[in-house]
Amino acid sequence: MASMESRSLPRAAATSMALAIAIVFLIYTTERLGDAASVEHTFMVSQVKMTHLCKETLVTVVNGQLPGPAIYVTEGDSVTVHVVNKSPHNITIHWHGVKQWLNCWADGVPMITQLPIQPNQNFTYRFNVIGQEGTLWWHAHVPFLRASLHGALIIRPRNGASSYPFPKPDREVPIIIGDYWQLDLAQAARRMMHGFLFSFANASTINGKLGDLFNCSGVPEDSYVLDVVPGKTYLLRIINAGLFSEFYLKIAGHKFTVVGADANYISPYTTDVIAIAPGETVDALVVADALPGRYYMVALPNQAPLPDTQTPEYTTRGIMQYSNTYSSADDPAGLMSDRGVEEKEEEDKGSSGDVPVAPEMPDIHDTITSYYFHSNLTNLYQTVVPQRVDERLFIVLSLGSICQHGQSCRRGDHNETILIATMNNVSFQDPTGKTPLLEAHYYHTGSVDLMQELPDRPPRAFNFTDEALIPYGPKEMRLEPSYKATMVRRFRHGAVVEMVFQSTAVLQGDSNPMHLHGHNMILLAQGFGNFDAAKDVAKYNLVNPPVKNTILVPNLGWAAIRFVANNPGVWFMHCHYEFHLTMGMAAVFIVEDGPTVNTSLPPPPAHFPTYCGHDNNLLPDELCLQTKKDA
Ligand code: C2O
Repeated sequence: MASMESRSLPRAAATSMALAIAIVFLIYTTERLGDAASVEHTFMVSQVKMTHLCKETLVTVVNGQLPGPAIYVTEGDSVTVHVVNKSPHNITIHWHGVKQWLNCWADGVPMITQLPIQPNQNFTYRFNVIGQEGTLWWHAHVPFLRASLHGALIIRPRNGASSYPFPKPDREVPIIIGDYWQLDLAQAARRMMHGFLFSFANASTINGKLGDLFNCSGVPEDSYVLDVVPGKTYLLRIINAGLFSEFYLKIAGHKFTVVGADANYISPYTTDVIAIAPGETVDALVVADALPGRYYMVALPNQAPLPDTQTPEYTTRGIMQYSNTYSSADDPAGLMSDRGVEEKEEEDKGSSGDVPVAPEMPDIHDTITSYYFHSNLTNLYQTVVPQRVDERLFIVLSLGSICQHGQSCRRGDHNETILIATMNNVSFQDPTGKTPLLEAHYYHTGSVDLMQELPDRPPRAFNFTDEALIPYGPKEMRLEPSYKATMVRRFRHGAVVEMVFQSTAVLQGDSNPMHLHGHNMILLAQGFGNFDAAKDVAKYNLVNPPVKNTILVPNLGWAAIRFVANNPGVWFMHCHYEFHLTMGMAAVFIVEDGPTVNTSLPPPPAHFPTYCGHDNNLLPDELCLQTKKDA
């Protein structure tokens, strides 16, 4: 008896202890789902002075940083970002790749989803991150300014890093490839919109550092340095925030295992080179398994082969260094300045002291490596590919030219001084009304109904990828009669849309990273040359195609995608090359409400600024009064 009693006491204690732990765990979990699950940031947008390449430049940035602050969230979190605009520019912030389910109001596209945030104004974005894990990013959605207004948006799994579908990394590192501009970005945008005047960045960057291929009077610029410990695994969260170029990324002596892209898991794919277009993200594991030493991490912008116009683009590099050989403060700048990337062969032994080992890069005109990289991406899980297709669009991505506004010119006169970018020969005209399209759509003002519809196909079929079209001439002139209009395309709620994007050789042979807001796209297949349904449909991957928010349509090639138009709202769809976007390679997709409240766009959030109070306001008066009262 006594012994039983004495034994039962500890048992009771253990039981109550377990209970207590369970209760504490429950409370913790509830809290985690309650307040810990909301992430809040303030983005102060202002101009700061930065000195690079021997010149001081005023750069518009968030919180004084370039790149801007990274936002870390756990899947399921709600995010609040207060934007305080202390810059002289109108801006908005777009959460690139965030699905914004039933929350188009927070998508951040000026005059499409909201009024721009004017200088000295504030705006608060609120959104939930649900059903997405991996790397996304945020950026300003005004012409060119995203070059300096951007940052990572990293979504971790709800159950922690041990629930990654790949070996748990020891460290996670955002790698943002970008541009550095000395020219005022707003001015660069105006030049591009009003003529053939192209402007270019002065350098490329990795995490804001120009690296040692750039210098000021012989003194190398700072390099991004990734310190690694032998044997450890690093999850690189790679983002291309550059305006104009796709990049090849390599690290000498190391391989990448790609595990994610655009916040979707990818079947592990091992490669020594990553190809990443503007708007895309790639998550890749790198194991520090080389001989301890220093290794260059090189980002090389590629460009379309001749006879395309060649543009000034710059390679940049950082350094991956083993921590037992150097500390990050230890930067023997003079020792690593003089040897170019091209001069050196990759060595398989670590560089112990002086010059880091450099990787052998693809040729700047190599388009095949990117094609292979993108073809090798498959979804980790079986993709739910809708089989029934309700709408089919064949979208030809091209350039064209039009007359200067107010001037008269005939085609063929060479007077058409404005270069434009088109989809099915129509070039997107930024909305000219005073009410953002989403607001006009939500309140049924009728203005959206009057807009030009994005044609389902081009006005005529031709050999789209005929390289004879690249030079400006009679052939090109016959094929590109184009004009500008605010193009919209309506989709019934739930419609399954198949789009084939066809790149062309008209005036250029560029690739096109096509980005759709508010929805992911399933990449069914891609190819070089002209899309031919009779043979290419058979190539569709209907099992595990990758799911992306940005699809790189190959140079002189095509890509076929499907998406389900099930997120009601007004969504921008455009090329993520800033010059193509600025020149009009864009359209607006309107997804109609579904039959229920849970499939319909809710009213704008409280205090959402509308165009009320201005003379040509189209909103019903009651709504304006309501908004004013709230504010
Ligand atoms: Cu990242 Cu509409 O863009």
